[in-house]
Amino acid sequence: MSEAAARGEWGSRVGFLLAAAGSAIGLGNIWRFTYIMGENGGAAFILVYVVCIVLIGAPVFLAELVIGRHTHLNPVGAFEALKPGTAWKWVGALGVLAGALLLSFYSVVAGWVMAYAVRAPMGTISGLASPEESGAYFGALSSSTAQSITFHAVFMIITMVIVARGVKGGIERASKIMMPILFLLLAVLVVRGILLPGAGAGIEFMLRPDFSALNPTVVLISMGHAFFTLSVGMGAMITYGSYLSPSNDLPKSSLQVAFMDTLVAIAAGFAIFPALFAFGMEPTEGPGLVFVTLPVVFHQMPGGTLFASMFFALFLMAALTSSISLLEVVAAYFIDDLRWSRGKAVVILGGAIFLMGIPAALAMGPWSGWSIASMLGGAAGEGVLGSVGIFQLNWFDLISHVVSDYMLPIGGFFVCLFVGWYWDRRAVEAEAALGSSGFRAMDLWINLLRWVGPLVIGEVLALGVLAEFPEQFFPRLASTVNTLHTWFIGLDILVALAVIAYSLAAGGGRKDRPAA
Ligand code: TRP
Repeated sequence: MSEAAARGEWGSRVGFLLAAAGSAIGLGNIWRFTYIMGENGGAAFILVYVVCIVLIGAPVFLAELVIGRHTHLNPVGAFEALKPGTAWKWVGALGVLAGALLLSFYSVVAGWVMAYAVRAPMGTISGLASPEESGAYFGALSSSTAQSITFHAVFMIITMVIVARGVKGGIERASKIMMPILFLLLAVLVVRGILLPGAGAGIEFMLRPDFSALNPTVVLISMGHAFFTLSVGMGAMITYGSYLSPSNDLPKSSLQVAFMDTLVAIAAGFAIFPALFAFGMEPTEGPGLVFVTLPVVFHQMPGGTLFASMFFALFLMAALTSSISLLEVVAAYFIDDLRWSRGKAVVILGGAIFLMGIPAALAMGPWSGWSIASMLGGAAGEGVLGSVGIFQLNWFDLISHVVSDYMLPIGGFFVCLFVGWYWDRRAVEAEAALGSSGFRAMDLWINLLRWVGPLVIGEVLALGVLAEFPEQFFPRLASTVNTLHTWFIGLDILVALAVIAYSLAAGGGRKDRPAA
């Protein structure tokens, strides 16, 4: 066996593509995207989000794949191999830690999805007749310590079994089976949704932008979500890229994954909102949207039990193909750098992550009132953006917030700096072009990583930190933050346009790059 085959390698291009798309497409697309979009103005939010995917998310995705394939190593090993003895390995380490933390609460949410998926065929979910009934049902599930922890455990065990079987026999195989089923079920649900009488209002919500709904906070949220949904910022694509061979076209794969991920998010919107509006329900339910509002929609729909079963089955598969990528990142570090066997890594790390998830599961029930503020014995009030700041969050929300809103963007920020500025430009270009039939947007890609990525991510992080401060102690901060937002967005648009114009003009003469 060659060394690459011993470490693990994708069996085919389609297999890699479906595994990468499987990582990207997850709870983020169905649960997170739809409720965020519902709360933030529908079509207008989608527009901003797509811009963030194209200008920042997809370039960082490609940058991670390039690092991974060049080094054939996990995130920590990859940075260490490229810049030995420097602090860059800590960027990788932050990613591995983020992966473990993210999986610990991801699995709790996925556990609820699993509970719904196994109960839906029995008619339990579509039997929930009103938002009150449905809310009580979800509340009972998520606040029941025994149920939450049991489903969390079962979901983790399935994730572990797949990852233990290796890259090709486990992850790739599972993705090749589940992703096509997911696409098919989603297509059926979209058709069902838009054919319902009264679906028009929902379709309009998805397609007609109401720009008055846009404000700087929406821009922050959409940029954070672009990272989360593409699985970038913690080295997941460094890890998946490390199992690639030189014949894969990385720029093309990145665009394909970004496209599929966006398509699935928008399709999930079309599966949900037309039906929601058709039955007279509100899109602004928040995180409970798919768990609380949707069952009532299924209840009113002819064939609701069947469609509910399909929906939660596809939702569960989407969650699984993402959770395996999270566990793989953590496992790969221990396999490569500490020489653990795959089996040992999966059992020990999976077990540890399961334990780390228990406080998140408890935070919905017995520990729901816990927060840093409550521990310190004081109410810290709302953050300056009007949302609840870091000091008031319970464990579940705290981890979710720290990982999605800080750790992933910080990881992405450093990947931009690394590939854009620090790593040898020729090596970057050669690796990105390898296996590609001519990467025309090379200059644009590098300039986006150099300028737009760090600028926008840096602003978002800075404003995010300011927004944590409790409003009652810092009354004037809120208006400063809002003014800064507005200025930053203007600046971002100018810089982005300048970078695009400059790159396209400069790159025009060098279209056909030799595939190094
Ligand atoms: N992208 C996944 C989703 O949308 C979540 C996810 C999986 C993820 N792996 C990741 C997010 C790695 C960031 C990094 O649900």
